[in-house]
Amino acid sequence: LEPEEIADFLFGVLPEQILAGTKITITAGPTREEIDPVRYISNHSSGKMGYALATAAEELGAKVTLISGPVNIAPPAKVTVVCVSSAQQMHDAVMQTTDECDIFIGCAAVADYRVQQKIAQKIKKSDDKLTLTFVKNPDILHDVAHLAKPPFTLGFAAETQNLREYALGKMQRKKLNMIAANDVSDSKIGFNSEKNALTVFWSKGEKTLEVADKLSLAKQLMQIVAQRYQENIKD
Ligand code: C5P
Repeated sequence: LEPEEIADFLFGVLPEQILAGTKITITAGPTREEIDPVRYISNHSSGKMGYALATAAEELGAKVTLISGPVNIAPPAKVTVVCVSSAQQMHDAVMQTTDECDIFIGCAAVADYRVQQKIAQKIKKSDDKLTLTFVKNPDILHDVAHLAKPPFTLGFAAETQNLREYALGKMQRKKLNMIAANDVSDSKIGFNSEKNALTVFWSKGEKTLEVADKLSLAKQLMQIVAQRYQENIKD
């Protein structure tokens, strides 16, 4: 094909670069909180939704940094991936990007607690009972949204009941621009599954995205994020 024909073809295939020049940080996957040198607590998050969002954002022209907990997914093309393990490491890595970040998406399933003190040697099974004390981890999304000059923020809320009420409460408490809520009482979608469904809320509206594979859902969600972000800049 002639160069002009290749260009015409690509412009017909590639989505409009509505996020060109925009810097986006996305967290994805679970965090791992170490107990002793061989054990940790974590959760079933696969990281698929966060990785799909990174792909979708990059396709719209954004410069994407993906801060990822331990997952088994190949890094998306043209995305900077920073691998972390614990919530504290994820927090530190995120905070290093916030000076230059226009949009922050908290998609990771961050462990709410970590053991107060990691035990230096492997715990031996001597007693019948074992007691560990946990302390709260930093809330990454909350801390980003409460910066003096916060980026545009999107959070996720996985709920088993009262989806709207809990999601809107979370959006307000964490001072977010948007929240994407999903019903995790249905085990066929969401956590560690190929598909998901979301209801997205912002201060003046909401939109339900029906069950779909995570990449097509991520593409729809990034379109809404881009629109809301641009409206926000104008306000
Ligand atoms: O409060 P809750 O954990 O339900 O909030 C979920 C949202 O907050 C998600 O967007 C998640 O990525 C983010 N979060 C976080 N740091 C935490 C806990 C949750 O960024 N420690």
